[in-house]
Amino acid sequence: MGKLSIAGFTNLGYRLHSKDFNPIDSDMTDQTVVITGGTGGIGRAAAEALSRLGAKVIVVSRTQAKLDEVAASIGERTRTIKADLSLMSEVRRVAGLLEEEPRIDVLINNVGVLIPERQETDEGLEKTLAVDLAGHFLLTNLLMPKLVGSAPARVINVTSGGMYSERIRPDDLEFEHGTYTGTAAYARAKRGQVILTEMWADRLEGSGVSFHSMHPGWARTDGVANSLPTFNLMMSPLLRSPEQGADTVIWLAASHEPAETTGKFWFDRKEAPTHMLESTKETQAERDELWLRLVEITDADLPTPIGDGAG
Ligand SMILES: NC(=O)c1ccc[n+]([C@@H]2O[C@H](COP(=O)([O-])OP(=O)(O)OC[C@H]3O[C@@H](n4cnc5c(N)ncnc54)[C@H](OP(=O)(O)O)[C@@H]3O)[C@@H](O)[C@H]2O)c1
Repeated sequence: MGKLSIAGFTNLGYRLHSKDFNPIDSDMTDQTVVITGGTGGIGRAAAEALSRLGAKVIVVSRTQAKLDEVAASIGERTRTIKADLSLMSEVRRVAGLLEEEPRIDVLINNVGVLIPERQETDEGLEKTLAVDLAGHFLLTNLLMPKLVGSAPARVINVTSGGMYSERIRPDDLEFEHGTYTGTAAYARAKRGQVILTEMWADRLEGSGVSFHSMHPGWARTDGVANSLPTFNLMMSPLLRSPEQGADTVIWLAASHEPAETTGKFWFDRKEAPTHMLESTKETQAERDELWLRLVEITDADLPTPIGDGAG
């Protein structure tokens, strides 16, 4: 397992770590990849790279102009879906539209936001939780029959090293208690993605679907510039390019090696620890409560028999 240092999150870390990387030259011609938030930053870099490997890439995000631009740059083998993934009704609509696809080989839950002030969506859900965790939970569970039917398939959850600072709070997923900060809400949701990756891996064992979470490092994107302007300014010379941030996403989606594993957390193509502090380790009861709360919030669970591990 790779050792992590904060300096490794920068472009210097990428340069050092990537010395050992083999080029990714998989043929994905027969594969369909769904990527949320694929019109900007890391998501767009991943969408373009996977398309170059031959995959049909389906990009989901909110802004039609950006979707059109990505479609023009990627070319024919793309499909775009305009949706606001902070709304569970929209996530359900997207999953319904994806039913038309004959197969889904890779689902990349990439969309993520860090919101400085606590906000609620029109559906009354705290927005960071909605975009960064509940929407991923719902989309993945709704697409699970399709993923299992397309097996071997992969689910990649783009999380963040920010999760190292927080413990999951299933008793307060919507940050209704204590002083809200955007970074804490973000870190809790990102911690939740790592836990869900492990839980899906357990529940879907033997299904042919593997689950991976990853940290892209610190990359220069609109998301970072808008939500962390001071960090963006101070770190600017050290930030990774979006392509460097996307490298492990592309590797997890395309390469042979990660498909041999499931439930792990990755950074720069190496397995990385999920905790740096004892205090962030959750109990089994907290994990179970997280799952149950997300089922309550999204009104969806894994369909049986997939959900009882028999899938
Ligand atoms: N950049 C970093 O240094 C860094 C570090 C650690 C983790 N990450 C994680 O990496 C992922 C990508 O980050 P990024 O920095 O590339 O993000 P970004 O630059 O903010 O791009 C986000 C993408 O998501 C879309 N989007 C935002 N809100 C949406 C919503 N409600 N519904 C649908 N689409 C939405 C955006 O397009 P529209 O605005 O058109 O919808 C855009 O395509 C996130 O999960 C982030 O937490 C990034």
